[in-house]
Amino acid sequence: MTGAAIPLRPAAADHELWETLVLPNMLIEALPAAIIVVDRDGLCRLLNAAAEDLLQIGRKTLLGRRLSEVIPEDCPLFSLIEQSRLSRSPVSDAEMLIDGPRLHLEYVSVEVAPLDDPNGSVAISMRDRGLEHRMARQGAAAEAAQSVRSMAGMLAHEIKNPLAGIRGAAQLLESKLSPADAALAALIREESDRIVGLVNGVEIFADDRAPVLSIVNVHEALDHVCKLARVSFARNATLKEYYDPSLPPLRGNRDLLIQIFLNLVKNAAEACDGGEIVVTTSYQAGFRIGERNKAHRQPRRIAVTISDNGPGVPEALLGNLFDPFVTSKPGGRGLGLPLVAKLVRAHEGVIEFQSKPGATRFTVLLPISDTQTDEGGS
Ligand SMILES: Nc1ncnc2c1ncn2[C@@H]1O[C@H](COP(=O)(O)OP(=O)(O)O)[C@@H](O)[C@H]1O
Ligand SMILES: [Mg+2]
Repeated sequence: MTGAAIPLRPAAADHELWETLVLPNMLIEALPAAIIVVDRDGLCRLLNAAAEDLLQIGRKTLLGRRLSEVIPEDCPLFSLIEQSRLSRSPVSDAEMLIDGPRLHLEYVSVEVAPLDDPNGSVAISMRDRGLEHRMARQGAAAEAAQSVRSMAGMLAHEIKNPLAGIRGAAQLLESKLSPADAALAALIREESDRIVGLVNGVEIFADDRAPVLSIVNVHEALDHVCKLARVSFARNATLKEYYDPSLPPLRGNRDLLIQIFLNLVKNAAEACDGGEIVVTTSYQAGFRIGERNKAHRQPRRIAVTISDNGPGVPEALLGNLFDPFVTSKPGGRGLGLPLVAKLVRAHEGVIEFQSKPGATRFTVLLPISDTQTDEGGS
């Protein structure tokens, strides 16, 4: 979909012809805005190269045919055309939605101006502003997230200092008061500890530093988590481990990986309450996506799956399970999964889950860098 070939510079005698006929055509062709001329019957009389791009159709196909073959008839563009024709003045719309089976554009700026010709034609100029809008939206979201993080970090710091004083004073009183009053002082101490725990959770979110990565054996990290689980929160559950021993090591942060798996196994233990928890590792081969010439290799990944036979994730939470403070547990804080999501992201991984009564499965996919897969074989 390229424009017409640019003619060579003409001889002096043809200069007037060149300026009046060729130059305007070249100008229209070179404009970045899509230009379309439509006559009184709605037939397309002229299209430039940008219009071919925007409408995703060649001019040979559309010239002499109705514009409504590409843009649906109920699109506000047609009332704008009518308005311009009747009022004999230019009209515009800064954010038009074109929503049809052939074409979907969300933010199109449109200007329509009547032409002084016997066919009652109008000239339409259109530009797709979708990308600008998306970029502005993402920029605003990232800025908002950053300012919330900075404020959370500052607040967390400011709360912890006076709280340490309150806790210390309560502890001092606890040793001096009568048993009945000491219980109240203990309550202050315990609640202070709980607030510190909450604030620490928030502080982790405020921490934007990239983790220090090294070569980690994922099975060693998982083994550690399962040992810990068996002697504490998963004492009553049956915890099974099925590992693929051929998996290569990955680049990660051992402490953070342990935190990820610990949170997931703890949730599984709390959900299945004495039921069965299964931890498995497997290999996810890389695959190709994209068009024939744009084939693009996805990184190969290790999949760590933690399943349980509990009642499943409550339906009300399914949509925002990874948001902070989302919990169904009486004493829950709802900070486990958001933290897991953040730490998985820091490892350039992905977390997914599937849940129905009796079968809930959280899967963490962690990329293996190419150099490691080469070393690791297969
Ligand atoms: N394996 C699971 N089975 C059922 N529900 C789960 C499971 N894991 C997480 N959930 C649900 O997700 C919620 C949020 O989990 P999390 O962020 O770890 O916070 P918390 O454990 O403090 O509630 C839990 O309260 C629970 O409702
Ligand atoms: Mg939890």
